[in-house]
Amino acid sequence: TRVAVLFGGRSGEHPVSCATAAGVLRAIDRDRYEVVPIGITRAGEWVLTADDPARLEGGRAEIQPADGRLLVPLGERPGPLVVAEPGRVPDELAAVDVVLPLLHGPYGEDGTLQGLLEMAGTRYVGSGVLASAVGMDKHYMKVVLAGHGLPVGPYTVITPRAWRTDPAAALDAVASLGLPVFVKPARAGSSLGITRVERAEDVAAAVEEAQRHDPKVIVEAGIVGREIECAVLQGHGDDAPRTSVPGEIVLDQPAAGFYDYETKYLDTAALTMSAPADLPREVADRVRELAAAAFEALGCEGLARADFFYTDGGDVVINELNTMPGFTPFSMYPLLWEKSGLSYTELIDELISLALE
Ligand code: DAL
Ligand code: MG
Repeated sequence: TRVAVLFGGRSGEHPVSCATAAGVLRAIDRDRYEVVPIGITRAGEWVLTADDPARLEGGRAEIQPADGRLLVPLGERPGPLVVAEPGRVPDELAAVDVVLPLLHGPYGEDGTLQGLLEMAGTRYVGSGVLASAVGMDKHYMKVVLAGHGLPVGPYTVITPRAWRTDPAAALDAVASLGLPVFVKPARAGSSLGITRVERAEDVAAAVEEAQRHDPKVIVEAGIVGREIECAVLQGHGDDAPRTSVPGEIVLDQPAAGFYDYETKYLDTAALTMSAPADLPREVADRVRELAAAAFEALGCEGLARADFFYTDGGDVVINELNTMPGFTPFSMYPLLWEKSGLSYTELIDELISLALE
């Protein structure tokens, strides 16, 4: 089976995607799969790269056009859609059985790539167009989850027009959430552009910081509680989604006061992932039940990681679903499956076989 592994990409999570790819390239079963490693540059070109995980690790990797042979010169520039030479698809792409899009963030995890692959009639791992798009947008994700009766926290959305025309009304809506709040780009990941705000006078600057990543901003009420995550895998055939044991993110005084980009990928000393999380049985069961329900609410396929708060009051609140969760050998998603009896290599195998079903 030929597998195109796609990584890098146009989003701010480019280096995270490279780290994810490094883990997969090291672990994928080479007796079963022939790997076509394709890096996507920040500008959007597809480059057939060397199969060298060491270059992709460390949280700062960046794919360059010179890293290999240009397969698809899709880029940010406006212009006609050109795939290599007119009428000729590069052999490496023509012969691919399945695509493993290890891309995080916009133009990878948000349905755009999935649409391209649907148009091309190519099989791929993970969620389709709608679930990917909804999962990328923290606003519509909450609308859909709440619409299915799942417990989401209080939030407000600031559109670019609202911020330009009536910022005072937007700030009033934020004030009604109390403090602290988390100000986030609606469509980004890995905590990029997120600020934890403790003083009302700091909200406007945080909105502008978030807008550097996405013109649409979501502001969430701070929820006091433990951060619990649960991994979900699609079932085979008509089987229900499978859930892992829940895990917990335990932070030791992170600089930004929350689980931010630095703590996630660069300065991980302040971070402990505890799995299985030390939770009462009924709370763990509730988390797993909500994770599976959220997966189905969005219509996810393949995989997702559901993130929760377990509040001091004993409630379980769903914060979000990630349709292409961090997938390095040190990430929560594979760790949760390992603790649930599925090794990293088996997990990759499982995802590819689900895509080929
Ligand atoms: N967006 C990052 C990769 C995650 O959810 O793990
Ligand atoms: Mg999260």
